[in-house]
Amino acid sequence: MQSITILGLETSCDETSVAVIRDGKLLSNIISSQIVHEQYGGVVPELASRAHQKLIVPVVNEALAKAEVKKEELTAIAVAAGPGLMGSLLVGVNFGKAFAYGLGIPFIAVNHMEAHIYSNFIDEPTPRFPFLNLTVSGGHTQLVLLKDEFQYEIVGETKDDAAGEAFDKVAKMLRLGYPGGPQIDKFAKQGSTNAIKFPRPYAIGNDFNFSFSGIKTAVLYYLRDNKLRDTVIQEQLLADICASFQSSVVDVLVQKTIRAAKHFGVKDIAIAGGVSANSYLRNEMRKAADQSGLQLFIPKFEYCTDNGAMIAEVGYRKCQRSMFSPLNVTAIANLEL
Ligand code: KG4
Ligand code: ZN
Repeated sequence: MQSITILGLETSCDETSVAVIRDGKLLSNIISSQIVHEQYGGVVPELASRAHQKLIVPVVNEALAKAEVKKEELTAIAVAAGPGLMGSLLVGVNFGKAFAYGLGIPFIAVNHMEAHIYSNFIDEPTPRFPFLNLTVSGGHTQLVLLKDEFQYEIVGETKDDAAGEAFDKVAKMLRLGYPGGPQIDKFAKQGSTNAIKFPRPYAIGNDFNFSFSGIKTAVLYYLRDNKLRDTVIQEQLLADICASFQSSVVDVLVQKTIRAAKHFGVKDIAIAGGVSANSYLRNEMRKAADQSGLQLFIPKFEYCTDNGAMIAEVGYRKCQRSMFSPLNVTAIANLEL
């Protein structure tokens, strides 16, 4: 069998990341997180695309050097083509197309959400088809049934805020900085999940959709009613708010995922996306999966948030099937799965 070496590029939001996979083995995964956004409390699209432009060549060079791979040895270039911020996506897509054209090798457009799911395939063991994946990121919350390789059926998704978005917005109310998810995760460790009763919307509904804006509003009302806005919240109370909010979100995510897994009769479930880095979600999903006799797959911590490795993984699998993209493919900000 001919050897396959893939360069994977990820520039859909505020991470410039490049990875090299050779014959299914990850050789490098360089992630450069843009810190310029912290002072604004969120990603500033124009600053993100400018930072990608500056970083893309050095990060590509670093990924190749770390992998000890020369560009002439590459088989194909895989790039996240959407969904994401248009200006950010365009940097990766245009660089990737030009690089592929210059080297005379195929270009592979990858959907960022499919790549999150495939972060579960970077290391062994991997889920067996059919399986159910909960993708929880800053922009998306989706329950996806993977009937077979690259065969997706979205069986549930959020009707309003994404899970990560709820984490970020609540963190902003608590003035914990951006991105808020890891901060809430950290503070919640010292708090009680039962301290404050926030709603668990849709947890007993019959469909597999989600809604998180109600929980977010409940936190806002709690802060307002207890005169906690614009004040420094005492440490234990802050931890309790974080733990109670986090458990509301996680309970709904876990319950729906397990129920959907039973409904669709799958034996394997997986989680992916930035929020799958959340320690409470990882623990609670593990407990629930064990109780239900389901096998759970969770990506390594560094493959949860945006990374080039997951793009290279999809690129590798598409390359094996000669699923190449024409060079007139462009970035699509709201690309669907
Ligand atoms: O997948 P990702 O890196 O980017 C998107 O595709 O959106 O996800 C970023 C999201 C952010 O909302 C961030 O707050 C959240 O993932 N996140 C977390 C944790 N780490 C990252 N949320 C909760 N707990 C964490 N430990
Ligand atoms: Zn992502």
